[in-house]
Amino acid sequence: MSFPWARELGALLLVALASLFLAIFIGHVPWVLMGGLFVYAFTGRYQLNRLREWIIMHPAGAPPDLPGAPGEIANEVYRRERELERRRDRMADVLQQFQRVSAAVPDAMVVLFQEGHIQWLNPAAERLLGLRSPRDHGVRVVNLIRNPDFQEYVARGDFSQALTLPSPIAGERQLSAQIIPFGDSLRLLICRDVTHFAKLEEVRRQFVANVSHELRTPVTVLLGFLEALNDPGTSCGDEWQPQFELMYEQAQRMQRLIDDLLVLSKLETSPPTSPEEPVKVPDLLWSLKRLGETLAGAEGPEIAIEADASLALLGNAEELQSAFSNLLSNAVRHTPAAGTIRLWWRADEEGVKLSVADTGEGIGPQHLGHLTERFYRVDTARSRAGGGTGLGLSIVKHILQRHQARLAIESRLGKGSTFTCIFPESRMVRLS
Ligand SMILES: Nc1ncnc2c1ncn2[C@@H]1O[C@H](COP(=O)(O)OP(=O)(O)OP(=O)(O)O)[C@@H](O)[C@H]1O
Ligand SMILES: [Mg+2]
Repeated sequence: MSFPWARELGALLLVALASLFLAIFIGHVPWVLMGGLFVYAFTGRYQLNRLREWIIMHPAGAPPDLPGAPGEIANEVYRRERELERRRDRMADVLQQFQRVSAAVPDAMVVLFQEGHIQWLNPAAERLLGLRSPRDHGVRVVNLIRNPDFQEYVARGDFSQALTLPSPIAGERQLSAQIIPFGDSLRLLICRDVTHFAKLEEVRRQFVANVSHELRTPVTVLLGFLEALNDPGTSCGDEWQPQFELMYEQAQRMQRLIDDLLVLSKLETSPPTSPEEPVKVPDLLWSLKRLGETLAGAEGPEIAIEADASLALLGNAEELQSAFSNLLSNAVRHTPAAGTIRLWWRADEEGVKLSVADTGEGIGPQHLGHLTERFYRVDTARSRAGGGTGLGLSIVKHILQRHQARLAIESRLGKGSTFTCIFPESRMVRLS
C-alpha cells in the first residue's frame, strides 16, 4: 500500500474513531457515525472543488493551501506549469535572438519547401530580391524570381555551384545565389550581393584584354624585323645569329601568349553564340587527326579515331575545334612515338562525350585539380620549351562552360591520360 493511501485510510479511521467517541457520550451511534462520515466525504469533495476552481480559473497564480491529495496535485500542477513557462520564455528568447541575427545578416535567406514554395524569408531577402513577408509565403520562388538562369538552376537540382544573377529589383546589382538542402526536405536559398566583386572581375578582364590588344601590334612589328634579321642573308654577321634566334623564339612565345590571352578574354566577355549549329564531330576529328599527325611528325604516336558517325553536337564549330585541338596537341606533346592517341566520340547515360586518350607519361594526382588554372603547368620549363603557354586547358574549360559541358580528367603516371568533354544530352543531334 502506497503512502498517500495509508494517510487517507488513517484520516478515515480518525474520523470514525472521533465519531465513535462522540457517540459514546451522546448516544445514537449509527447517526453520529453517518454524520462523521458525511463530514469526511463533504470536506473531501469541497477540497476537490477548490482544486478544480484553481486549475480552471487561476492556473498561473500560486496554488491554494489544500490538505492531502488535492494539495499534492495542486503543487505538482503548479510546478509543471512553472517549468513550461520557463521553457516558453527560453524558446521566445532563442526565437528573438534568431530573428535579430537573421535581420542583421546582410545576405538574403529564404527557406523553401522541397517543391520550391517559400516558407520563411529574412529582411535582406526583401531588400535584395524584392520578396515580401508574409505576403509571399507559400508562393513558388521561381514565380517571383523570374530569371531564366535561376529557373534552370532550380529545375536542374544540382546546387554544388553558386549562380550569379542580376537582382530582380535593381538590375545593376549582381547577386550570387546558392541553394543548400537541409533537414528532410527543406532548402535554404542564400543570395549575396557580389556587385563589388563582379566589378573588380570586369576590371580585371578588361585590363587583360586591353593589355593583350595593345601588345599585339608592337610584338608583331618586332617579330617581323627579327625574322628579317634572323635571315642568314642579312649583313648582321654570323656572330649575332644565336642571339637573333633566341630573340625571335621569345618574341614568338610572346605572340602566342598574347593570342591565347585574347582568346580567353573573348570567351569570357562575349555571350555564347546562338543559334548554334549541329557540328559533325566525326568530320572534325578526321581533320584534327591530320593536324595532329603534322604536329607529331612522321615518327610521332599513332592517332586512332573511334566515332559514332550518326552523332552530331549542337554548338559553336570554331570553339569546339579550338577545344578539341588543344586536347589533341597536349596528347601529342606528352606521348612518346611508340604510344597511341585515341579520339573517341560517343553517347552514353551521362551525355555525349568526346575523349582524347593517350598512352603517354600521365599526370600525378596532385596536379589533376589544377590543370585548368591559368598558366598551370606540371613541368613549366618543359612546357615552355615545347611552346606551351599553360593557357590551353583554361581555354578548353571556358569553351566547355559555354556549352554547359564539363571536362573530366583521368590519368595515371606512366600509363597515360584521358581528357573527356561531357556535353549534356540536350546538345546531342542524331543524324538520320
Ligand atoms: N595529355 C597530357 N599528358 C600529360 N600531361 C598533360 C597532358 N595534357 C596536359 N598536360 C599537363 O597539363 C599542363 C597544362 O596544359 P595546358 O594545355 O593548359 O598548357 P600547355 O599545354 O603547357 O600550354 P598551351 O596549351 O597553352 O600551349 C601541361 O603543361 C602539362 O604539364
Ligand atoms: Mg596545351
